[in-house]
Amino acid sequence: MTNKEIKIAYKEYDSIDQLDTLDRRTAEAAIEAMKLSYAPYSEFNVGAAVMFEDGKIIKGSNQENAAYPSGICAERTAMFYASSSNPEGIMVRIAVAGGLKGELTSQPATPCGACRQVMAQYQLKGGKPMEVILVGASKIWKFDKVDDLLPLIFDSI
Ligand code: THU
Repeated sequence: MTNKEIKIAYKEYDSIDQLDTLDRRTAEAAIEAMKLSYAPYSEFNVGAAVMFEDGKIIKGSNQENAAYPSGICAERTAMFYASSSNPEGIMVRIAVAGGLKGELTSQPATPCGACRQVMAQYQLKGGKPMEVILVGASKIWKFDKVDDLLPLIFDSI
């Protein structure tokens, strides 16, 4: 038996202004997308923004439904829309911002497991690392690739 350990690396910033231009634009788009959220049940409004390699941004937001599992997270809305509208596009970064009643959380909200798996798939499809930028009001966390948020990615088929 061998004990093994996996470490997760990420960068922490105190303000969106500390991000480089492309990251900041993506983070700002995620915050804007919070306003497009439809979350009458949880009242937790989440926005996500995907940036393609050419700098184009696609926004998405969480969309809830009275049949709860029929709703979908902001990240998957953004990625599915991005891939549907530009199947050849390479997604190089995704930013996420969320908060109750539209007020951005202080610490970043972190993506659910299903969204991480979908990020992993589009990263694999694009063949380039997809950065993940999680935006809070007082802290921003940046992961250089999806693997850092989802170690031991399932890619066996
Ligand atoms: N949600 C997201 O859109 N993204 C996340 O990363 C976490 C959760 C949504 C799902 C649901 O509409 C609401 O936030 C509360 O869970």
